[in-house]
Formats: sequence, structure tokens, C-alpha cells
Amino acid sequence: MKTVVVTGILGQLGWEMERSAPPWARLVGADLPETDITRSDHVARLFSENRPDVVVNAAAYTAVDRAEQEPEAAYRINRDAVELLARTCARFGTHLVHLSTDFVFDGALSRPYRPDDAPNPIGVYGASKRAGEEAVLQILKDQGTIVRTAWLYSSHGTNFVKTMLRLYQERDEVRVVSDQVGTPTWAANLADFLWGLVGREAVPAGIFHFTDAGVASWYDFAVAVEEETRHHRPRPVFVRPIRTDEYPTPARRPSYSVLDKHTAWALWGRRPDHWRDALRRMLLELEETERLSPKA
Ligand SMILES: NC(=O)c1ccc[n+]([C@@H]2O[C@H](COP(=O)([O-])OP(=O)(O)OC[C@H]3O[C@@H](n4cnc5c(N)ncnc54)[C@H](OP(=O)(O)O)[C@@H]3O)[C@@H](O)[C@H]2O)c1
Repeated sequence: MKTVVVTGILGQLGWEMERSAPPWARLVGADLPETDITRSDHVARLFSENRPDVVVNAAAYTAVDRAEQEPEAAYRINRDAVELLARTCARFGTHLVHLSTDFVFDGALSRPYRPDDAPNPIGVYGASKRAGEEAVLQILKDQGTIVRTAWLYSSHGTNFVKTMLRLYQERDEVRVVSDQVGTPTWAANLADFLWGLVGREAVPAGIFHFTDAGVASWYDFAVAVEEETRHHRPRPVFVRPIRTDEYPTPARRPSYSVLDKHTAWALWGRRPDHWRDALRRMLLELEETERLSPKA
């Protein structure tokens, strides 16, 4: 048995990790309000009570736009708390697997970002996540693993897919940016990869990129959600492609943030899902749990 603490257990990824926990893992889930990873007394109690072999830090400040207005909160959770976790891991001999993001890159490349490409975040969220990565790499070395992912969604929680489904109920036309390209990722697949990583006798250290396969713009992603769920609506919704400058947001986002996942996929040993297949499976799950409205 390995004792594995997953922080942010109530979030999208945490939820997926909880429901796919393998029998060899004693999973301890942690989240607000009982465990606030910014508080040293909470973190000390979490470690002394559980003596984890591995901590997977899926807790984060993930509100990309709000971070521009409240950088202190973003840095407190995405940098300072990560530093606290890393120092505590070092003291307890615990391996830390820390989740990070494609938003550490500026999007200027035109080929997929490799784990050793130079980060250059263009917003507060990305910068705060990069600062957390740096803390892990400096403090933990062989005891630290960074897993960067992108465009996460799950049947649990708030995400782009859920937002589109709501908008498709309310409108005949939805405008979606078509000049930002990345890869949608079903959190269930990421959870499966993470369990494989954590289950290794020695958890590999360093930086890994994991997303589903393929590339898409937000527009392509929205069209796929519309097409896959069209049978639930009386008429199709028109998804209109627009430019980023037609949909101003407080935070700038990379225009290209496809990640090179080949090292992670080789470790995983499973055939990666194309993002659209993964989306289909997630929507089927939503349908089965009756969270999609019945056929009109
Ligand atoms: N979502 C994406 O598209 C995306 C893309 C790339 C990378 N990532 C990274 O992937 C990881 C998982 O993302 P996710 O989408 O699963 O995030 P999520 O759904 O926002 O879940 C994060 C969880 O952490 C909790 N949390 C926040 N502050 C905390 C604190 N101080 N102490 C303890 N728990 C705290 C949140 O609670 P509250 O909800 O109460 O705040 C929430 O339950 C994060 O590291 C994120 O940066 C996400």
C-alpha cells in the first residue's frame, strides 16, 4: 500500500482521482475548508497524521481572469502554498507530484511545447503557476514531479464543456474564439496517467506534459460539444468563430499552447485518446447520470 494525499480533492481532477483510486492506494483527500494548503498548521497536521508516501497537489487558484485582479490570492495558493508543501515533503521524505499548466508558456512557438522549453507566462495565473513549479524544482529535485496539463474538463465541476452546454440551452448562436489553439483534456485520462505515475516503485522526477491527443481551437471544441449533443435540442445552435480581440478578457492567453506529450504517453503505456473521443465518453457519462436534459 502507498499512502497518497490528493489536495484539491473536490476539484475536477481531484474528483476523477478519487473515483479511479487503485486498490494499492490508501487515498487521503484534502480540500478547503478542513485543509487549507496555505496554512502551515493545516499542512503540518495533514503530514503528521497521514505520513504520505506521495502528495499529488491538484489544489490551485484556477480563476485565470480573476487572478489579474487578485494576484496576491493567486500567488498565495499557486506559489507560497506549493513552497510550503515542497518543504514539508522534503522533511517527511514524501514525493510531490505537482500539477501545472500550459499557461506557463507565451504561445509564441508554432510546434508543440516540450517540457524543457523556456516558460514565459503572459498572465498572472501562468506566472503564479510557474513560480510554484520553480519552488518544487528547487526544493525537491529527485523528490519532485511537475505535470503540466491543459484545457481540463470533467463531468464534475465547472469547465468549458459545461458552460457551452448551458449556453446552448439559452441561445441560438454562441460566439467562440477560433485563434487560440491547444488540446482539450478529459480529467479522467489525466487521473489515470497520474495513478500510473504514482504507482511506480520510484516516481519519476522532472517535468512531464500530459493532455489528450490532437489539437483544437476553442471554436473547434465548442463545435464538437454542439455536434455531440445536438440530438438533445430542438434545433442546432450556430457556433460563430470570432477573433480573440472580439472577446476581450482581463487575462491574455497564449494563442498556441499545444504540449508535446510523448514522454508522458510512453510512461503511461496506454493509447492516448483523441480529444474528441474523450469528449464523447465524458458526454455519454453526463447523459447516463441524467445531467444532460432529455431529448426534446
Ligand atoms: N482547469 C483547467 O483547465 C486546467 C488547465 C491546466 C492546468 N490545470 C491545473 O490542474 C490542476 C487541477 O485543476 P482543476 O481544474 O481540477 O482545478 P479546480 O477544479 O479548480 O479544483 C481545485 C481545487 O482546489 C481547491 N483549493 C483552492 N485553494 C485551496 C487551498 N488553499 N487549500 C486547499 N484546497 C484549495 C479548490 O477549492 P475551491 O473551489 O473552494 O477554491 C478546488 O476544490 C491545477 O493545478 C490547475 O492549475 C487546470
